[in-house]
Amino acid sequence: MTSEGTRLFHLSDIHFGLEDREALDWVRSEIDRQRPDAVVITGDHTMRARHREWDAATRWITALRVPVTISIGNHDMPYFNPFERFLTPYKRFEGVKALVERELRLPGLAIVPLKTVRRWQPRLNWSKGWVTPEALGRCLAVLDALPRGTRALVAVHHPLREVGTHGTALTRHGEQALAELARRDVLGVLSGHVHDPFDIAEPTPHGAVRMIGAGTLSHRLRSTPPSFNELLWDGASLTVRARNCEEVPTRAMQIDDVPPDAMPPRTAGEPVAPVQRVPPVDPPVH
Ligand SMILES: [Fe+2]
Ligand SMILES: [Fe+2]
Repeated sequence: MTSEGTRLFHLSDIHFGLEDREALDWVRSEIDRQRPDAVVITGDHTMRARHREWDAATRWITALRVPVTISIGNHDMPYFNPFERFLTPYKRFEGVKALVERELRLPGLAIVPLKTVRRWQPRLNWSKGWVTPEALGRCLAVLDALPRGTRALVAVHHPLREVGTHGTALTRHGEQALAELARRDVLGVLSGHVHDPFDIAEPTPHGAVRMIGAGTLSHRLRSTPPSFNELLWDGASLTVRARNCEEVPTRAMQIDDVPPDAMPPRTAGEPVAPVQRVPPVDPPVH
């Protein structure tokens, strides 16, 4: 904690296998230089959870010399081996097991995980989010047990938006989860999956919740250059900067709405960041 407050680096969607090496080297140097109080990585560490991708992710993450918590994304569980996916979905990230959905306690601030991935879903598209009653219950129990005066940021992979731009459920039971988090007055929900940064006040029946998304550090770009979020909590307010190698201003980086997936916008009406750095061809999904 500095005299300014508690500083967090919120990284997401590094997608080892298609990672942006230059961007990652820059982030590593910024972590070494600024020594944030914690690094929160909100999932999609690999492309297809291949052993070599998880090995590279594990090496990079375990070399960080600050407290780290990571969420599991839809790209992080075995993709080509259904037996392993069902029976031992976390086996490939044994090297970072202690960091997975780890609660972090910082002065006056807690990072509380909420799982949004499942090894299977009763629908065709398993890449989307799903909040189970058990996962929500675990998260709420941790929030309810925090010492009085401790504020919380909840870390997820999928934004807790139930209905996306195209009317499909991005995260099943996300609205209910968000309403419960509003009742507990969380500072915000940190997410990934979308590959563009955002900072949106999402209304719920119990008041608005701040949904904060980090961009990607991979070559799977949507409408912004590679970036991460730097958060500063001074005990009264939380400021968010979408930092990027090109020094594009934060507001030009942030989209105003949550798209249903991380693919570049191709049809009218899809959320596009003001910087409009949309790749001309869709990034590879391999
Ligand atoms: Fe992703
Ligand atoms: Fe994802």
